[in-house]
Amino acid sequence: MKTDLCNMKAVAEKKYTLGLKLPTDPRWVDLTQFSLQDILTDHAYCEQKATSAMISIIQQYAEREGIVDLLSPVVAEEWGHFRAVLAQLKKRGLSLGEQRQDMYVKHLMKGKKKGQSRDGYFLDMLLICAMIEARSCERFKTLSRKLTDPELKEFYHQFMVAEASHYKLFLKLAKMHFEDQVVMDRWQYWLDYEASFIKDLPLRGDRLH
Ligand SMILES: [Fe+2]
Ligand SMILES: [Fe+2]
Repeated sequence: MKTDLCNMKAVAEKKYTLGLKLPTDPRWVDLTQFSLQDILTDHAYCEQKATSAMISIIQQYAEREGIVDLLSPVVAEEWGHFRAVLAQLKKRGLSLGEQRQDMYVKHLMKGKKKGQSRDGYFLDMLLICAMIEARSCERFKTLSRKLTDPELKEFYHQFMVAEASHYKLFLKLAKMHFEDQVVMDRWQYWLDYEASFIKDLPLRGDRLH
């Protein structure tokens, strides 16, 4: 299903969550309610992948200021998120399903420059993480506002707050290592690039992104 919200002129005049260029299609929340097990399963794996991505950045860039000190606590927090989603599944008599292909992240990774320097790759990894955190935050905000189950509303509200703080941390780390203008120019690229493909991704209730 292709979103019909992409009136770019109207969109350009509005501000969306954390500067995102395109809001989530409101029909998405309705679709997520068909199978709580599916959306929670996808959410759990997103938290696991966030944990893995941060460990990978620590492994590759441990010598860079702030990477070990500032990211290590967030690794623990993301793994805590994974466990919180597992607990929510269990509480509802549901179990973790199989991991599905993550088309959103797959498309995002295609936006990296080919053959760039180690520094360039470092900046892109920080900004890709910031992008995923921003979009996740926006999706959690949407779920928290639109779902009717009071426990799930609060559950997603907590994730919204946490992922917003991770988004800020990744931009802070980028600015610790690169000139502000370099970071903002590349961030603008990622915002535009994300908006260019997300409108064409199928709208699925069993995917967080
Ligand atoms: Fe998380
Ligand atoms: Fe996060």
